[in-house]
Amino acid sequence: MKTVKIGLLGLGTVGGGTVDIINNTMPEIQRRLGQNIEIVIIAMRDLNRSRSADTTGIQLTDIPAEVVNHPDVEIVVELMGGTGLAKELIETAIQNGKHVVTANKALIAEHGNGLFALAKKHNVIVNYEAAVTGGIPVIKALREGLAANKIEWLAGIINGTGNYILTEMKEPGADFAKVLQVAQELGYAEADPTFDVEGIDAAHKLTILASIAFGIKLQFDKVYTEGISKVSADDIRFAEQLGYEIKHLGMASRLENGYSLRVHPALVPNTVLMANVSGVMNAVMAYGDHVGATMYYGAGAGAGPTASSVVADIIDVIRWKDQPLADQVPSLGFALDQLQSAPVVSVEEIETCYYIRCFVKDNAGVLVKITTILADSNINIEHLYQEPSTQKPSDATLVMITNKVKESKLNLALSALSQLKEVDGEIMRIRIETLG
Ligand code: NAP
Ligand code: HSE
Repeated sequence: MKTVKIGLLGLGTVGGGTVDIINNTMPEIQRRLGQNIEIVIIAMRDLNRSRSADTTGIQLTDIPAEVVNHPDVEIVVELMGGTGLAKELIETAIQNGKHVVTANKALIAEHGNGLFALAKKHNVIVNYEAAVTGGIPVIKALREGLAANKIEWLAGIINGTGNYILTEMKEPGADFAKVLQVAQELGYAEADPTFDVEGIDAAHKLTILASIAFGIKLQFDKVYTEGISKVSADDIRFAEQLGYEIKHLGMASRLENGYSLRVHPALVPNTVLMANVSGVMNAVMAYGDHVGATMYYGAGAGAGPTASSVVADIIDVIRWKDQPLADQVPSLGFALDQLQSAPVVSVEEIETCYYIRCFVKDNAGVLVKITTILADSNINIEHLYQEPSTQKPSDATLVMITNKVKESKLNLALSALSQLKEVDGEIMRIRIETLG
């Protein structure tokens, strides 16, 4: 049986999971592939740190260039992360005629246009299923399974750490920092967890999903990005009382004048499937013009699920590497020269209902002032709730749900509200998404 030799850049959470799968599942993989996979070299920073993965017989190095220049390595598996050294190494691997598998969404979202062009020039494959939603094969589903459709929109929970935090924050007394620390210990978070908490990781993934769905170039810098760091346990509780769950969503839709690409927390009605996606689980809904709504669900982060996608990509490369690249599924699902540079529409153009929460002086006449400002902007309040503030005895917490309103108009009204001396601190505004 033929053996394909591979080299790994990184032996952390995902790298370790990949070694474990290859060590433990080889007989089943051989039955699928008719070939054997052998890891011959792995690069890491610290050669002295003890690792749970069994690397017996594998060359270990702290010089990553040795992996991409190794004469026997046919496939370089990049599981280091980052957009500096990882980019240089992948470029070298491609120039050396090696195929690449990566889980690095930051790299694909920010530099994928150039990397895919380079790979085409050198006739090698770059696979990246693990970069989006961990173990869910959503890249394959959108790129191949829905190829007959014009995708109208997609929406999803695409960051496991964020969803884990929002789920755990429902427990009374939960502390944001402690919950994040647990997510890090479980191997869910990025090396810099602000990527998870501030929505940057989700924006990377949304960039990739939108490209594949619509056949547009990767445009990470155009994604509207808001994280979960300002969502409080009280917001989660108020939302629940009103029949919603707060979820961090990535959303992309095709509009008349371009595309909407956004990542932000949202109130989702608790009756829809997406509201019930909890913990580290992710889900992506995609709506195709022929198929209608489809949904993909599974573990979005962690060693086993992510390595499952990495190994599936390795198997795909082995199956396809000897075929001409022109006969294969293009990296982003559309021929590279057919990708459009589409205009991205400002988030101020969207129209939706909003959850608004603010602290106000608990005095007579305050409500009238607030509702007058909203009424002057023709913003209708569908629901209003007030309770004593847990933070300041002289304040009340005011929660409102508005009717559908254009975001630019809401922002003007919120700016006027924030000028009122009776409004204390920052006003929280969360979009409501029905996902229908
Ligand atoms: P990680 O646990 O921090 O592992 C990174 C690995 O890369 C470590 O083994 C580290 O070496 C090695 N490394 C980093 N810089 C290096 C350098 N300059 N030279 C040599 N080795 C270096 O990260 P991870 O969670 O496995 O994530 C890896 C990639 O997968 C990232 O792109 C991430 O976004 C992506 N990803 C992660 C998940 C997840 O659930 N964790 C899911 C999907 C995608 P040491 O071990 O010696 O420090
Ligand atoms: N940090 C990422 C997450 C890893 O939590 O979703 C998976 O991409």
